[in-house]
Amino acid sequence: MTTSTSPQEILLEIKNVNKNFGGLQAIDDVTLDLPAGVITTLVGPNGAGKTTLFNLITGHLIPSSGTIHWLGKPLKGFQPWQVARLGIARTFQDLRLYSQMTVEENVMTVTERSSWLWQGGRKAAEQRVTEILTETQLLDKRHERAVDLAYAERKFLSLARIMASEAKLWLLDEPASGLDPRSFDRFVTLLRDYAKRGITICIIEHNLDIVIKLSDRVAFLDQGKLLAQGSSEDILKDPHLAAIYFGERA
Ligand SMILES: Nc1ncnc2c1ncn2[C@@H]1O[C@H](COP(=O)(O)OP(=O)(O)OP(=O)(O)O)[C@@H](O)[C@H]1O
Ligand SMILES: [Mg+2]
Repeated sequence: MTTSTSPQEILLEIKNVNKNFGGLQAIDDVTLDLPAGVITTLVGPNGAGKTTLFNLITGHLIPSSGTIHWLGKPLKGFQPWQVARLGIARTFQDLRLYSQMTVEENVMTVTERSSWLWQGGRKAAEQRVTEILTETQLLDKRHERAVDLAYAERKFLSLARIMASEAKLWLLDEPASGLDPRSFDRFVTLLRDYAKRGITICIIEHNLDIVIKLSDRVAFLDQGKLLAQGSSEDILKDPHLAAIYFGERA
């Protein structure tokens, strides 16, 4: 691991960001900081704007107004590949693996992209791939094609790719959806371990069990607005937010 960050440094600052799609305000005046080493969970009902917020950070979408700063510098005008190169990596709801490539090749395409990081050269990068495949329990599947993996294994491969990116900030879009309980526990342990090593994680998650086990902090979005942020206990016990989340709004 090459990443090290001092605790509580603000990595990403989202200030008064808005995003309109025609008449729809998908993000409505959102202000949110992501401090280093903290696991923030974004929760909210379907269509709340969670993925849109990720897309705005990563340059897949451009804010209608407002600013996003990375380590104090504006991200305005950056293409997704430039944002990735700054140290912000993401996964997608639909995974976007290279389905015909092997497990190992899927991870190596990421280490090759960040080869400028590998002072130890190709050998160091290969060692890192082996380490990552061991951590994600995919080592014995390294020569299988991604398309032939079981669902949970594909989710872990998506995580393996982000581990290989050496990014400081991981944006994970529903990475645990559909995992069985045993995979859940492995997944939570792995993310907690990386957070301890200094990785900052922002995760979109619908599974409240994972939200409770994983989050240092929860941010609740609804209809594009950041309605609340706080500990998982505070947010999940709030009857007003629960009513919104479970679709029982007045
Ligand atoms: N490119 C786009 N063009 C038009 N509307 C969009 C676009 N992307 C998202 N939207 C709309 O913006 C709103 C927020 O969508 P978004 O995908 O961010 O929600 P979400 O919180 O990630 O939901 P889910 O939990 O279902 O993934 C939705 O109404 C969606 O239909
Ligand atoms: Mg989404």
